[in-house]
Amino acid sequence: MPRTEAPIGAQQFVPSNARELDEFKAAAAHCTGCELHRDATQTVFGRGNAHARVVFVGEQPGDVEDQKGLPFVGPAGRLLRDAVDDAGIDASSVYITNAVKHFRFEWRGQRRIHQSPGPAHITACHPWLVAEFALLRPELVVVLGATAAKSLLGPSFRVTRSRGQLMPWPASAQHPEDFPAAQLQALATIHPSAVLRADDRDAAYAGLVDDLKVAATALA
Ligand code: URA
Ligand code: SF4
Repeated sequence: MPRTEAPIGAQQFVPSNARELDEFKAAAAHCTGCELHRDATQTVFGRGNAHARVVFVGEQPGDVEDQKGLPFVGPAGRLLRDAVDDAGIDASSVYITNAVKHFRFEWRGQRRIHQSPGPAHITACHPWLVAEFALLRPELVVVLGATAAKSLLGPSFRVTRSRGQLMPWPASAQHPEDFPAAQLQALATIHPSAVLRADDRDAAYAGLVDDLKVAATALA
């Protein structure tokens, strides 16, 4: 194994004193905080309502998102939108982003196969999430799956054990000082891609919707 240098991270690419999410988005387009920018097509920044009370955080862009430059516009995104709808959350009132903002993949023949981001990528990209949260100041963060949980709730958090529960921003969270909203709450659930892969897709989907209903009630 070649020795791998720790990535320099995104922090030095984050503009200070930005007042609009678009300023972050424009800067993130040139982020070289880790090596993932090299093979991916483009940075996929978050999108949605700048006044969102709830922010959804996924893993990383997929193949479709990498090509279109927008988060959650592929199959997992369609499923997430349906689940948000079915939970009674107004989809136009949310902001959606990812823990890692470049697509990590490996070539298999002509196909690009998703590879989960590693801890170094999650850490390198964390400053963009912090920047988004600092401007959005959401009330609730919905953490979708293990990668987002690692980024936001710490490495020992287990989604399967704690899903669907409204929690105060946990003291164990990494960098809690980065998230200024005092009453910030978190709710973890499974990733929509896990629903797509599940043997019993209907049951997995119903579980996701049930978790999101907890978020809907919290926002009501
Ligand atoms: N999965 C994610 O986690 N994010 C996307 O944007 C698309 C698929
Ligand atoms: Fe920067 Fe994140 Fe892309 Fe790495 S994945 S280059 S830290 S935007």
